[in-house]
Amino acid sequence: MSTFDLIIKGGTVATASDTFESDIAIKDGRIVALGHDLGAGTREIDANGKLVLPGGIDAHCHIEQESSTRIMTADDYYSGSVSAAFGGNTTFIPFAAQHRGQSLRDVVKITHERAGPKSVIDYAFHLIISDPSENVLGQELPALIQDGYSSFKVYMTYEMLKIDDHQMLDVLSVARKYGAMTMVHAENNDVINWLSERLLARGHVAPKYHAVSHNPIAESEASRRAIDLARLADARLLIVHVSAPEAAQAILNARNQGLPIFGETCPQYLFLTAEDLDRDGMEGAKFCCSPPPRDKAGQDAIWLGLTNGTFQVFSSDHAPYRYDETGKFNAGPNPTFKKIANGVPGIETRMPLLFSEGVGKGRLSVNAFVALTSTNAAKIYGLHPRKGTIAVGSDADIAIWDPDWKRTISQSMLHDNMDYTPYEGMEITGWPRTVINQGRIIVEDDTLQVERGSGEFLERQPLDPATDEPADHAPLSPARNFGADLM
Ligand code: URP
Ligand code: ZN
Ligand code: ZN
Repeated sequence: MSTFDLIIKGGTVATASDTFESDIAIKDGRIVALGHDLGAGTREIDANGKLVLPGGIDAHCHIEQESSTRIMTADDYYSGSVSAAFGGNTTFIPFAAQHRGQSLRDVVKITHERAGPKSVIDYAFHLIISDPSENVLGQELPALIQDGYSSFKVYMTYEMLKIDDHQMLDVLSVARKYGAMTMVHAENNDVINWLSERLLARGHVAPKYHAVSHNPIAESEASRRAIDLARLADARLLIVHVSAPEAAQAILNARNQGLPIFGETCPQYLFLTAEDLDRDGMEGAKFCCSPPPRDKAGQDAIWLGLTNGTFQVFSSDHAPYRYDETGKFNAGPNPTFKKIANGVPGIETRMPLLFSEGVGKGRLSVNAFVALTSTNAAKIYGLHPRKGTIAVGSDADIAIWDPDWKRTISQSMLHDNMDYTPYEGMEITGWPRTVINQGRIIVEDDTLQVERGSGEFLERQPLDPATDEPADHAPLSPARNFGADLM
């Protein structure tokens, strides 16, 4: 009789801290033993010559979400999760996005209805808060944080999403009090609008002007301001999708001062540049995202940030809008750069791109790769040690990578519902062959092995910003800049 449900044999296991030869025994969805000669499994996988890594956690992706201008993403929770799985992910954290006037509870309910019957991998939700009303700040948000929605994104730009500094302090202060993480889209809306007005007045309407209007100074100014607001509120803050070198530097400076400031970057800032927005005709629309890709020196600065402690999280910011009237051209066939739907897809290519160009080309250790694509997100967003590592007691969320698998990225091989990939033609070495989520083999032999709706919703623990300990186990430490009565 076999003792285990599954044994992965003969692979090289890598976590965020260690690399070692070990078999892995799995039972009831958990890792129950590591070592050699573990015994028999109902199913055994030969991982000789393979890298056995924690399943990826994509901590920033837009799935079955309406943008602020009410454009629905091309991916729903089925296609989005299948695409994620084929790219080595076992968990993703899309958004439950509030539009102004909406109750957060309603938004969460709707998002559950979308995800539950469809997702093939485990999932949690970040909230997007665009309307921090008294009811949201005083009632809904504290209750939702305690219910396991312990992170939320706010915007400093986009007319229908942005909050002002006063509102940001309100949100940060609630996050501080209840142990949540605030994520911020840091771009100065007035700078972008001021530049856009001048560009449009001069007839500069082509996609490439999107990158001109989203000047790096708009990003670095807003990043510094957001960090200062978080300092004032003594709150944790994670700046998402960082592209500008000066913004990266501001994060590193804050971290070097010991502040609980975190940084995220994405593939588009390593592998695309503003020149892509200047491709023929309207092709540049495919690369319009915010913040936009920068230049070669900017790419180098982002690579540096992945190794010097600036960035903890490498996410896709998968925002899938097709190159047609349902997506990029929702406002008409020849929109000005202001009216092109913002976002690029990349949930399936996120990890293979970083593996190939990072680990394969010697820029990152495999352990740093694991930290950036899985472990740190699990820690920062309250999922660790259940997720993000390979250890006895953790969920058996594992991607078995073939480090020698050579593939050329093309849209036809991807599993999202898009009609293009920005990375078409890129040659990749290394891709996951087998992906396992809670002991279930979800991808094998280039085929999906599980049913829609088989992923599990994950409640997340709030964390005390000062100690990183679960917030419900200890009273929160007082804010440093003002007394608890002001929080
Ligand atoms: O351009 C982007 N990144 N669109 C997605 C929405 C967001 O701000 O993350
Ligand atoms: Zn954003
Ligand atoms: Zn995003």
